[in-house]
Amino acid sequence: MGEHRSDSGEGDGADRTRGATQLALALAALRAGGLVLMPTETVYGLAADASDPLAVARVYEAKGRPAFNPLIAHVSDLAMARSVARFDDRAERLAAAFWPGPLTLVLPVSDGAAVCDLARAGLETVAVRVPRHPTAQRLVSAYGGPLVAPSANRSGRPSPTTCADAVEETGEAATVALDGGSCTIGLESTVVALLDDARLLRPGAITRDQIEAIIGPLAEAGGDAKRSPGRLTRHYAPDAPVRLDVLQPVPGEAWLAFGSAGHGPWNLSPTGDLREAAANLFAYLRAADRTNPLAIAIAPIPQEGLGEAINDRLRRAAGFVG
Ligand code: TXA
Ligand code: MG
Repeated sequence: MGEHRSDSGEGDGADRTRGATQLALALAALRAGGLVLMPTETVYGLAADASDPLAVARVYEAKGRPAFNPLIAHVSDLAMARSVARFDDRAERLAAAFWPGPLTLVLPVSDGAAVCDLARAGLETVAVRVPRHPTAQRLVSAYGGPLVAPSANRSGRPSPTTCADAVEETGEAATVALDGGSCTIGLESTVVALLDDARLLRPGAITRDQIEAIIGPLAEAGGDAKRSPGRLTRHYAPDAPVRLDVLQPVPGEAWLAFGSAGHGPWNLSPTGDLREAAANLFAYLRAADRTNPLAIAIAPIPQEGLGEAINDRLRRAAGFVG
């Protein structure tokens, strides 16, 4: 494990020099088939060369992830995305509207794409996204090819939103950890499949309304497990049981409050701001879990805008896999 340095790109000259050194170390690790903890605007990812089956196998192993759950290819720009996936008009419009940013498109894979079979779990489709975080941008551009980067948690656990949490989850497996600060969004990207129809496979920071405003109505992921294999298991779960829609916690419970009526150390957003709640969610779940509570009780979160993605993660953390 390398030393952790700030690479937010906003520091003084010495910080920038350290950032450049860390970037060079990360590139060398990736070229050698190693793994790198990479900050993105959503959550931290565990990155590897998407074309290298051995490196991808190391990612699955580090996460303890079932090998039928495919990974997202992170690319630097639309040109690299087009070398990986076949874009139709809907994909072009969504990419123009939301990239770089927290949107993943599932598309037919291109011939000769630099994303190995194992990364796609053998599917003829591929998930692709252009991350917005400056460190992720620099890493993928300098590498010059797609990187897989699943959230850097062990399978089934909450995603890490700080470098320290990522190191705690899967740091042993990574050669280099790039510290890009706290993730500003804090929830994984929205996943939209554009195949026969357009489906929302995972709600996220780009809301359903924002997508429908560009390509029209989305179909539900529903029970179509093949399209979204990663959606089957209990997920995002702390060790403690999770109880939802709690207005008043019982003694021994840790409470994640929301809004002005909340009390205690973990109010997801005292002002009731869903963006702030999303950014705090996984870090507060982890902090509450560290106190070994009887359960983690969570206040009701409105099912509007970003609330759809927050409630999706919470239902899965509680073990209600819809
Ligand atoms: O925000 C994010 O997307 C983060 C950061 C690090 O970029 N990454 C992330 O990756 O959340 P991961 O591997 O934890 O989630 C990928 C999701 C899974 O639900 C997986 O099943 C789905 O994308 N997926 C990937 N390829 C797919 C495909 N070909 N068809 C359907 N679903 C796919
Ligand atoms: Mg994940």
